Order: sequence, then C-alpha cells, then structure tokens
Amino acid sequence: LTAPNATRTAQTVQVVAHRGSSAALPEHTLAAYRRALAEGADAVECDVRVTADGQLVCVHDRTIERVSDGGRRVVSALTLEQLRAYDFGSWKHPERPEPQPVLTLESLLELVADAGRRVDLAIETKHPVRFRGRVETELVAMLRRFGIAGAVGPYDADGEGASERPHARIMSFSGLALGRVRKAAPEFPRVFLFEHPELLRLWPGAGLPQGAVVAGPGIELVRRRPELVRALRAAGHRVHVWTVDEPADVELCLELGVSAIITNRPRAVLDQLGR
Ligand code: G3P
Ligand code: CA
Repeated sequence: LTAPNATRTAQTVQVVAHRGSSAALPEHTLAAYRRALAEGADAVECDVRVTADGQLVCVHDRTIERVSDGGRRVVSALTLEQLRAYDFGSWKHPERPEPQPVLTLESLLELVADAGRRVDLAIETKHPVRFRGRVETELVAMLRRFGIAGAVGPYDADGEGASERPHARIMSFSGLALGRVRKAAPEFPRVFLFEHPELLRLWPGAGLPQGAVVAGPGIELVRRRPELVRALRAAGHRVHVWTVDEPADVELCLELGVSAIITNRPRAVLDQLGR
C-alpha cells in the first residue's frame, strides 16, 4: 500500500463476501457462505428473489439455468419445494460435484446469526418492478423476525461495533425498490447501486435516491471516474464498491477511502489488507 490514506482505510474497510466466497465455491450456497465466514469476511452480500409461494431465496438471475441443473425455469414461477428438487452446487466444479440445495434467506440469516461474531448483511432485492414490492415486504418482515438491526457498517456510532449481532442494509439498482424499503422500514439503511454516472445527475448536489446513505458504484465506473467517489464522499455519503477482485482495484478503493469492498475473494482481499 502506497498512500497514507490507503494504510488507514485498510484497517477499517469492511470486506464483504459477494454471493459468499464465490470465486472458490458455487455462489449463494451455504458452503460458499460458510467459507466466507471461515475466511474472516466482515459481511456477506446476497441477492434475494421471491418464489411462487412467497419464500425468499438467494438467487441472482431470473432463471436458475446458470447455477443449477434446473434449466430455464423462472424462480418466481416455482414454489420453494419445487426449487428444492434442483442442485445448485455441482455446476461450478462438475469434476468434483458438491450438491447443494437452493439457499433460503432464512438459512443464511441463521448461519450469520450463529457466527459467534458480528457479520453484517448487504442484501440486494431483485426484480423490483414486478410483484408489487413483495420482495421488500417479505425481506423486512424476516429481518425484523430475526431481530436484525439496520446499519451501514461497523463504523456506525452508538456502540454497535461491539455487538456480536448481525446488522443489515438493503441495496438496489432501483429507486422504486429503495422507496418501498424506506416506507416499510426506514431503520434499514439503503444503498443505491449504479453503473452509469448519468443516473446521479437526477439528484442534485451528489444526492442519492430515496434518502440512500450509501452509494454503490461498480468497479469499472470507479476506475473510469474516481472523482465521482471523491464527490460522493465530500457530499457525506459512504461508498461501497462492487465487485472488487483485482489487487490494483483494492488499492484504488483504499486510496479513495471507500467504506466497503464487495468481493468474490474475501480471503485474498483481507490478505492484501494485512488482516
Ligand atoms: O453488491 C452489488 C452487486 O452484487 C451488484 O451486481 O449483478 O452482482 O447483483 P450483481
Ligand atoms: Ca448482488
């Protein structure tokens, strides 16, 4: 690490395992999240979708084709029981398959709640326009049932850093979804994800939609337009960057003073940070 600011940030930046330790193991499986916890990740990221019978499952795409043996079936058209018929673990390493069922958000919350240390959750809601906010409503209800409080990171004031309980923030590319979260559960901080800087022009003075306190730009944008991160920070926002897997990008994030690095390789990033 070269810049003094980078050295400081290396100690405090939150390392978030994107879809679990997903470079090593199949994304969004219990195995990938267990590994992320064992590797020392500070937090975990997941995507949530709602099934036909209203259950929340951690699946990124609209269909299960890429990550299972279930073909082009659509998550929201299947019940949880139907989804459980498919294997979400064997696709990544077909030569040494490790079958895994679809991961429910409930199972992930149980895992994180039993971690024995504070592990935060960065939860992204998918398909915001359809289903009239059912994902957001179910998500908030489940977080409350688990007694999970809202926080944007361990750097939050009020002693939360000392707690072993998980804390959550809710992320979306959609202002509509963030608005629903704001209305249903203002206690959960909102993260506005974006790839295109033009979107920020819609909110004057480096503001973010729906009172989001965290800006979540993709790393390609950060590489191209690092001054955007500086402007967002100067406007009082925290910046969480995804998906940061290259050492040079980790260094760039540290120099820019981002608060969270979302990565498929949590152990490698922690090693680079000297933690
Ligand atoms: O953490 C944010 C990042 O996951 C957004 O992109 O496509 O991986 O969900 P995506
Ligand atoms: Ca995501």
